[in-house]
Amino acid sequence: MAIEWVEIAKLSSKIGEKVQIKGWLWNKRFSGKIGFLQLRDGSGFIQGIIEKALIGEEIFENAKKTKYESSVIVEGTVRKDERSPIGVEISVENYEIISEPETDYPISNKDHGIDFLMEQRHLWLRSRRQYNILAVRSEIIKAVREFYYSKGFTLIDTPIFTGSIGESAGNTFEMEYFDYGKVYLAQTGQLYLEAAAMSFGKVFNLGPTFRAEKSKTRRHLIEFWMNEAEVAFYQHEDNIKLQEELVEYVVQSVLKNAKDHLISLERDISKLENIKAPFPRITYTDAIKKLQEKGYEITWGEDIGAEHETEIASWFDRPVVVEKYPKDMKAFYMQPDPENPDVVLCDDMLAPEGYGEIIGASERIWDKETLIKRLTESNLDPEEYKWYLELREFGSVPHSGFGMGIERVVAWLCGLKHIREAIPFPRTLYRVYP
Ligand code: 4AD
Ligand code: MG
Repeated sequence: MAIEWVEIAKLSSKIGEKVQIKGWLWNKRFSGKIGFLQLRDGSGFIQGIIEKALIGEEIFENAKKTKYESSVIVEGTVRKDERSPIGVEISVENYEIISEPETDYPISNKDHGIDFLMEQRHLWLRSRRQYNILAVRSEIIKAVREFYYSKGFTLIDTPIFTGSIGESAGNTFEMEYFDYGKVYLAQTGQLYLEAAAMSFGKVFNLGPTFRAEKSKTRRHLIEFWMNEAEVAFYQHEDNIKLQEELVEYVVQSVLKNAKDHLISLERDISKLENIKAPFPRITYTDAIKKLQEKGYEITWGEDIGAEHETEIASWFDRPVVVEKYPKDMKAFYMQPDPENPDVVLCDDMLAPEGYGEIIGASERIWDKETLIKRLTESNLDPEEYKWYLELREFGSVPHSGFGMGIERVVAWLCGLKHIREAIPFPRTLYRVYP
């Protein structure tokens, strides 16, 4: 009878059984007549014990000289092992190499520089740390989708090529689109979600967005993934509540389903456990006052920079909702505050521990004339927003929405110093390889 091929993650239920593992040899150590093979197969990591007496001289010597990252098929008996993180190890009875590298694997345990590792990103993905980070990312995206479906939202996939600028003119990627002329890579899918919200009520998207940001910070990518939501009849308060519920759900789901990955990353989980709604709130105006009291040189009307965001976040132990920014700092579509038209009904959610803005949100202008005025003030041509303005002609209603940066959330939950590790193949100012 053929030996059953079993994923490493499922081996703890196979104690005493003979199984086959298909994977890669990522490390090994030999001492006399015994060897310790570190194997991985994508589902997990396991140690294989190989003994000369049991397996014979030839296979033993072969195993001993196998290069790292060779692909292998290992057969053996699953044994209980208290010291193993998964509770089992495998006693190797057969060892077969599928493909062995000709040269030594370029990534070793020694400290490589970040540029070297980024150049090797296609291989670096195999390392334990990168594996854990991207597994957490996958859980985050799963939780985001679950959240919206459980609340009756409809997924609307918004386009990547767009004819009108969605956010601001400063950082667009432009290209020629056949005879049509200039188009842009989407900075946001928001305008299209606004159209869909008038059909479905509650909608969301999740996809890549592009910003030609010439800034080189540890929080910015050129290509990043954004989840956006848009809801008809929602106003500022409803919008904030939805954001809080989403973030709580995502954090708690990741703690439930990806705790082992966070522990492997040495993330301080206690800091994530208390992420429960409602979150603290502060207005932009009060935040500026408080920053000034603390000695920061910032005046009302100036943008809140990364350093200020970190300071504001440090006043709280949960994400903080900073609301009602000056209208001149923010995008054209944001609804002015009826109590003070100098500010808009918007909010930025800042993650704790200095991870910065994870959500940008607002109520939308739903009156056509106000929208035309704001477009013009923002140096955008209302002619290019014909369809968007028509949404304000046919059954316009108050509506609100937001966008959450997936990589920012990954960086926060995993405790990453730099956002470039939060996406499989980062596109930054100086890197599009691999
Ligand atoms: O605040 P932003 O620019 O908002 C929008 O694009 C709105 N149209 C969203 C909406 O209301 N539907 O971007 C939203 C979020 C930010 O809070 C941040 O988390 C992330 O996207 N983000 C970036 N992440 C990585 N690299 C960049 N260059 C980012 N720019 C924004
Ligand atoms: Mg923003």
